[in-house]
Amino acid sequence: MPPVLSLAHVSKTYDSGFQALKDVSLEIERGEIFALLGPNGAGKTTLIGIICGIVKASSGTVTVDGQDVVADYRAARAKIGLVPQELATDAFESVWATVSFSRGLFGKPRNPAHIEKVLRDLSLYDKRDAKIITLSGGMKRRLLIAKALAHEPEVLFLDEPTAGVDVELRRDMWRLVRALRETGVTVILTTHYIEEAEEMADRVGVINKGEIVLVEEKHELMRKLGRKELTLYLHDPIEAIPEALAGYDLELSQDRCALVYTFDTQRERTGITALLQDLSNAGIHFRDIETRESSLEEIFVSLVKEET
Ligand SMILES: Nc1ncnc2c1ncn2[C@@H]1O[C@H](COP(=O)(O)OP(=O)(O)O)[C@@H](O)[C@H]1O
Ligand SMILES: [Mg+2]
Repeated sequence: MPPVLSLAHVSKTYDSGFQALKDVSLEIERGEIFALLGPNGAGKTTLIGIICGIVKASSGTVTVDGQDVVADYRAARAKIGLVPQELATDAFESVWATVSFSRGLFGKPRNPAHIEKVLRDLSLYDKRDAKIITLSGGMKRRLLIAKALAHEPEVLFLDEPTAGVDVELRRDMWRLVRALRETGVTVILTTHYIEEAEEMADRVGVINKGEIVLVEEKHELMRKLGRKELTLYLHDPIEAIPEALAGYDLELSQDRCALVYTFDTQRERTGITALLQDLSNAGIHFRDIETRESSLEEIFVSLVKEET
């Protein structure tokens, strides 16, 4: 099946001259949960804006389910549900009216059964007659999702769905998004929380300073993230790694003065204790020791440092 969303060489320079996106290409598969992870200012909202036709790309093309977001704007837009970063709702409308109205905006015929299903899925059906102003923060967030789903979109965008939300509500939101995927909708969410990407996504794209720096299956990413290097600086250089240490993931440095051991932090046993014991048995002594995270983790750490 062709991807449900396809971006090719998308760039954006705002009128101020600031380049918010640089040659972004990306394909999203039908039915996946994709997390776009990046620090504030990375270009996440700009990218969503372009896909939804709110922001005009300076160059490149975007298609949603085969429809070009510029040439076939209405058809493309109707396939998208957007839950924006900022919460703005009409305080005195009822839940039912505001969700029904959202459906009408896309020219879809009335379908009370669908509205009811969406409200039930989001645990809002009991509140259908309540005025929005009376809802709790968590309910308001769910209402925004209901509005975005009212016209039966193929793809749902959640722009920072849990920014500034407490831990409990964040977990509720995660549960809910996973449940939505079961209904067949493709979910793309942006976040600056590594934990959120880790918790939710099938695939993760990392965006930094307008560039996609990495796109990876979540499990693969976690495997790489979990790897660390331990460097043992030896007292005396050795010719080769002794036979007795062949069972370890060890490399001898070029100057033969250091051994580098790679291990998986996700595993229960890192093997360090046994390694040190076996080194000692093999008569190898070291003068210093250093651990280092894998480069992918370094990317993340540098991203998180910029978080505000
Ligand atoms: N309308 C605009 N005019 C000029 N610069 C903008 C505009 N909107 C966003 N930017 C800049 O583009 C960059 C990316 O913003 P944004 O897409 O909102 O990032 P994110 O959602 O990842 O935090 C930021 O540096 C922001 O200041
Ligand atoms: Mg944003």
